[in-house]
Amino acid sequence: MKDVYILGIESSCDETSVSIVKNGRVDIATVISSQIDIHKNYGGVVPEIASREHVKNITFVIEECLEKANMKMDDIDAIAVTYGPGLIGSLLIGLEAAKTLAFVYNKPLVPVHHIAGHIYANSLEKEMSFPLLALVVSGGHTELVLMKNHFEFEKLGGTLDDAVGECYDKVARVLNLEYPGGPKVDKLAHIGSCTYNLPVPLQDDSYNFSFSGLKSAVINLNHKAEQKGEQINKEDLAASFQKVAISSIVNKTKRALIDFDIKNLIIAGGVAANMGLREEVQKVADELNVNLTIPSMKYCTDNGTMIAAAGYYAYNLGRRADLYLNSKSSDKLN
Ligand code: KG4
Ligand code: ZN
Repeated sequence: MKDVYILGIESSCDETSVSIVKNGRVDIATVISSQIDIHKNYGGVVPEIASREHVKNITFVIEECLEKANMKMDDIDAIAVTYGPGLIGSLLIGLEAAKTLAFVYNKPLVPVHHIAGHIYANSLEKEMSFPLLALVVSGGHTELVLMKNHFEFEKLGGTLDDAVGECYDKVARVLNLEYPGGPKVDKLAHIGSCTYNLPVPLQDDSYNFSFSGLKSAVINLNHKAEQKGEQINKEDLAASFQKVAISSIVNKTKRALIDFDIKNLIIAGGVAANMGLREEVQKVADELNVNLTIPSMKYCTDNGTMIAAAGYYAYNLGRRADLYLNSKSSDKLN
């Protein structure tokens, strides 16, 4: 069978990334231009600045990726692009670039949901086997998704309020850690001990999550300490927070695996980089004899590789968009 090369474009937040992936599994070339150094001066992503940076970067990133792969646009079978969810101004830049390439070079345009991209980052590690349970943990999503086949997403449950990544970022701010805060909380958590008593979120029979109560508890604890002139032990608070946050995710994941008798588990999204989560999920997988796939660290944060990988399977299913495709700041996983 002829090899299929997909060029994937991702610009939903603060990374401008383009990648060429062969047959949905092999990363031929990936270029990521990160804006972290710019946004960290503001303590988080400033949407207007992010869009402007994408405008500056996108053509260079596309050219660099083709050069790195030693390929021309003629060698590409289709263009996959993140159409949403994400920051609307940021999404538009990648989307317009993708549409322009599709139009000029007469290539099919394949729309990819950002979270589908995070899920398909796993196909770069191992061929995906179904049925599988996808634990989606990112800055905007916390969901348990059952997949019986490619691009069949059945949501079992999700967060009722904040996403886990959002909660990590908030805790990082409380602890005065530089943006992006999630990985720094993770690091501190490994040094500290669980000495702070924090509320365990939503211990019910659903597959839903809740992080706003936990977030508020951390904020209040810090506030009270400040009022009393006491010092917070950052490492211990990070460890206490991480234990509660991760165990609530892992417990519900374990129950879903048992209830639906699923033997394949994947983790998707930026928080898949969390060391505590990776360790705890591995323990559950070992205990239940479940095949676990976790994306390598470089594919946990936003990248065009995962979009090209997802784009390959979407392309095979005949998914296409026309040049009227618009970006969406929010959209159901599909
Ligand atoms: O998947 P992602 O790009 O977000 C969305 O697509 O919505 O992930 C970004 C999120 C941020 O909230 C970031 O703090 C978090 O992932 N994150 C982590 C870690 N690395 C990234 N959170 C906890 N521990 C980490 N090691
Ligand atoms: Zn993401």
